[in-house]
Amino acid sequence: MGLDTPDDAAVYQLNSQHALVQTVDFFTPIVNDPFLFGQIAAANALSDIYAMGGRPLVALNIVAFPCKLDFSILREILRGGKEKVEEAGAYIIGGHTVDDDEPKYGLAITGLVNPDEVTSLDKAKPGEVLILTKPLGIGILATALKADLVTEKDIEEAILNAAYLNKGAAEVALKVGAKAVTDITGFGFLGHLFEMLKASNVAAEIELEKVPIYEKALEFVEMGIMPAGLHNNRGFLEGKVHLGGKLQQVLLDMLYDPETSGGLLISVPENRVDEALSLLKDESPCASVVGKIVEGTPSVRVI
Ligand code: CO
Ligand code: CO
Repeated sequence: MGLDTPDDAAVYQLNSQHALVQTVDFFTPIVNDPFLFGQIAAANALSDIYAMGGRPLVALNIVAFPCKLDFSILREILRGGKEKVEEAGAYIIGGHTVDDDEPKYGLAITGLVNPDEVTSLDKAKPGEVLILTKPLGIGILATALKADLVTEKDIEEAILNAAYLNKGAAEVALKVGAKAVTDITGFGFLGHLFEMLKASNVAAEIELEKVPIYEKALEFVEMGIMPAGLHNNRGFLEGKVHLGGKLQQVLLDMLYDPETSGGLLISVPENRVDEALSLLKDESPCASVVGKIVEGTPSVRVI
């Protein structure tokens, strides 16, 4: 699978049973605690392997770090990353570091997938039900954290969720026969959903009140504190999102929030939804049905 579709990771078939899955992701800190930042960056990078139905094998660290900063900070970032990669059952086997004005961390990850089990963007079918496994709003909360309007303690739930692996959710997707899966990151919920709709040539109906969000983020949306990426995401989707009635604007804004290490969006065959929800209950307690795939030109109707 090459560059023609915007899938979460590249897939290279080795033989009839094995294909490589490859992805890379890195970014500047979204939290102050270096250990947590390392964990979030690794969970985020691993997520694209899970979104393809893959199993991570090995990872390479990608590091930018200012020489003038205390190196114990870098050690903590790398310790967080290593712990997450090991939790995923994979290994860090090397990496590369450069001197830079601003710290950045991420990983290039190689995984394996059975070619018959690849979950991609182009396989969503009308009638399937959409499940989202983590709440939305960490982009807004991270913006508030940068502005010193909240502490890490105040947004602990969101930080721990961002550090949480999408491994279990991906296993559930496989178990219930889901074929179309993606993870919610920088383009926001609607941006990533739209990529799936476009690739599958279908439309979706989303029930706004059912989408899991961090309540705390609503306060900041009301104050107009939002990341620049949120406005960009809304701009990209102009004309693609239709509103079915009068909806609460602050809730709508959440659907465009650029997430870091967000949950999986899984398109589940209708007759397997109850099974999916019961399997996700302990694994991803915030997982919710948020809407369904319908026939039509790629677009989203929010009701
Ligand atoms: Co992705
Ligand atoms: Co990515």
